[in-house]
Amino acid sequence: MNTKYIIHSSNRAFSSLDKVLSGKAYNDARYFILCDENTYNHCLPILISHTSRLQESEFLEVPVGEEAKTIDVAMQLWKTLLDSNADRKSVIINLGGGCISDLGGFVASAYKRGIRYINIPTSLIGMVDASIGGKTAVNIDNIKNQIGYIHQPSAVVINPDFLNTLSEKDVVSGYFEIVKTLLLCDKSAFQSLLENSDVSDDIQAIKKMIPLCVDFKKSVVDVDPTELSIRRILNLGHTFGHAIESFFIDNGDAISHGLAVGYGLLCELYLSVKKLGLSDSILKEYCGLLRRFSAFPRLSLRDTEQILKFMRSDKKNADGNILCVLLQDIGEPVIDIALDELEVRDALLAVSKL
Ligand code: GLY
Repeated sequence: MNTKYIIHSSNRAFSSLDKVLSGKAYNDARYFILCDENTYNHCLPILISHTSRLQESEFLEVPVGEEAKTIDVAMQLWKTLLDSNADRKSVIINLGGGCISDLGGFVASAYKRGIRYINIPTSLIGMVDASIGGKTAVNIDNIKNQIGYIHQPSAVVINPDFLNTLSEKDVVSGYFEIVKTLLLCDKSAFQSLLENSDVSDDIQAIKKMIPLCVDFKKSVVDVDPTELSIRRILNLGHTFGHAIESFFIDNGDAISHGLAVGYGLLCELYLSVKKLGLSDSILKEYCGLLRRFSAFPRLSLRDTEQILKFMRSDKKNADGNILCVLLQDIGEPVIDIALDELEVRDALLAVSKL
């Protein structure tokens, strides 16, 4: 499947989508637009008014956030599609952030053995990461993304103007996925990010990074769509990040996925210095960047044991080893570095004092 990418910082993105939907491949297609309450109210009217082909669409609404990513919600959506006689030419349009594209992609992957879907991300994390690459999933028992498919979207349509009204929390969520991408591929762009004095206010600078992040992720996914090898570099920051996120959720003090990845990157850069000889100055610069948003909470030995417990159940592990991506330098990631538990404890305790 060749995904079509459309990026325009204006509603021209939707006129371009209209042209795509006028093509032969979409003859007789019916469209089901999946929204949450926020995107239903704020984004749907804009999309519909600029995309004539979607004016006859049917709408599917689900709760905001991770609450929607359950098999029960997926079941309700499948039933609605069946009741509406949706056939294999039907297309699900995912209008929302990563939770909507994960859920809608999952529903599309299984409905009648797979129908098409299009992602229209409305959050920064959606634009630079979640909407690209075909990972779809729901959660089980609050453990994220345990059941899912890799099923590529037919198109990804990005209008960065949707970000104009984002809160700082939403910006932070996508910001660290951008930082991750720059650490993986582009030293000069990483340096230019460091030079911005207050990135959380500088939405224009962030918007400019979107095409670079999309191109990089697309190039990786094209080579390894099913994550057998190189796609694993995209997990930089996520071995620690996911465990830290689960730890805070479990303690009733949830932090955003983005901030958890921010902390995860800190731990993994610390270990990159220790194990692969990454320059200490990159770690120091990164610490400065992270401090703009928040201080890393001090962790006790007991906290590190709980985080370790989550790391042991990470789906990226193999043969009982905790596996991680580390960096030799910016643009030089190394996958499948095995960590022993002493190294994990050391990183968690050390970075909480940085
Ligand atoms: N978010 C990492 C990936 O899509 O592979």
